[in-house]
Amino acid sequence: MNVKQDFDFRQGIVLEPEVSDFPLLKKAPFIDEGTDPIDPSRYYSPKFMAREWDKMWSRIWNFAGFSSDIPDIGDYFTYDLGPESFLIVRTGEGSVEAYYNVCQHRGRRLVEGDFGSVADSFTCPFHGWQYGLDGSLKQVTDRETFRPEALCGDLGLKRVRCETENGMIFLTIDSSAPPLKDALGIIPEHFAPFDIPKMKVVKEVTVEWPVNWKTAADVFYEAYHVHVLHPQITGAMDDYNVQIDLYDKGVSRFLVAFGRISPRWLDQESLNDDLKGMLSVAGLDDADFTGNLSSVRSAIASAMRSKFEAKGHDCSSYHDSQLVDSWNYGIFPNVQIGIYPEGALVQRWRPHPTDPEKCFFDVLNLVHPELAGLSPRDAYLDWRSDVNLDKYTRPPRQILRTEEEQRSGLGLVGYQDYENIIKVQPGMRSKGYEGVVLCEQESRIRHYHTEIDRYLSVS
Ligand code: FES
Ligand SMILES: [Fe+2]
Repeated sequence: MNVKQDFDFRQGIVLEPEVSDFPLLKKAPFIDEGTDPIDPSRYYSPKFMAREWDKMWSRIWNFAGFSSDIPDIGDYFTYDLGPESFLIVRTGEGSVEAYYNVCQHRGRRLVEGDFGSVADSFTCPFHGWQYGLDGSLKQVTDRETFRPEALCGDLGLKRVRCETENGMIFLTIDSSAPPLKDALGIIPEHFAPFDIPKMKVVKEVTVEWPVNWKTAADVFYEAYHVHVLHPQITGAMDDYNVQIDLYDKGVSRFLVAFGRISPRWLDQESLNDDLKGMLSVAGLDDADFTGNLSSVRSAIASAMRSKFEAKGHDCSSYHDSQLVDSWNYGIFPNVQIGIYPEGALVQRWRPHPTDPEKCFFDVLNLVHPELAGLSPRDAYLDWRSDVNLDKYTRPPRQILRTEEEQRSGLGLVGYQDYENIIKVQPGMRSKGYEGVVLCEQESRIRHYHTEIDRYLSVS
């Protein structure tokens, strides 16, 4: 194995050590969050789950979805979180509102579908009460049969705060939460180069997993397992020399080099099939490639730059690394977004309404319409580059119910992660297990757990 023997956790890994003038590559200063094992009870305790809901989920900004999914006035989608369901509605050209998805008459869930569009009102399927896009109660069926005092309160839909940042819609239940920008920390600055409002969701899958949401999140917050669980991808991905940056508010990121062989890969000399595959997506014939292995990334980057520019996409603000590598951001507490000029890969974990040992896992793939089919990262991100964006219709949320559906819907890497975490969850309950021990390659895990603790410690 060809890994560094002199790893210095205070310095960590810098992806592009030679580059000092590209602000978004800058390594964040080291944050010491200690080495204590994490108490396993937080992965199964109903009490911990209840505290998490009251003190964290009810107070944070949640990533709900994308504004490109509700382009026209009256378009809506639903977002379920724990015991709640929310309705997110386009109410005007630049305005989006969110409501609890619950009718104020007898409490029925108002909207059942994942997506839809209404002309100007929502009608409850139980007794037909109608609500305007602004949430106001517009019509009560047989109003004359209600005594006036029964209808005297505010019976409009209950509103939750909702804000949009670069095409990403967030909501919070907490009316006194600080503004979204405060919660996102560095995210707006780091996502600014990418035109997310233009990107289209080309795939969305949801699966219920028999694990706590953090058991699921943990596996996506480290690349330490990649060489064991996903050895098939290490031919063109450096899973060891990963730049990890921890930021304020529980935000963190990975910068993972693609087009570079893992130091754990046996053959360090040959242009392997995975590297050839990346060259070929970039339009480069491996037979003509005369550079050495260390120049594969820059060759891919410059080819992608020309391809993107030929499509009229200005690439002047991108570093080569943004055209080749994986830039994966974790927005506290439960969503990771790999962000690229040509699209985005979103992975999200949501708590189950009642069971601490279940969760929902969502994957959304987005493609920039001008750059569809041009991703050198395709093979690694299970990306749908073949989608026809000229005749775009938003694909439905697909619920993966069987093992077979998971295998095809999540792709091999996601399925390998699933097969693994279902064997981690029982370990959390074992009397023979004392706590989660983490190396510095797993520091993003500790970082988001530390932020959870911060929320839970507030009285
Ligand atoms: S519950 Fe909605 S109209 Fe009766
Ligand atoms: Fe994995």
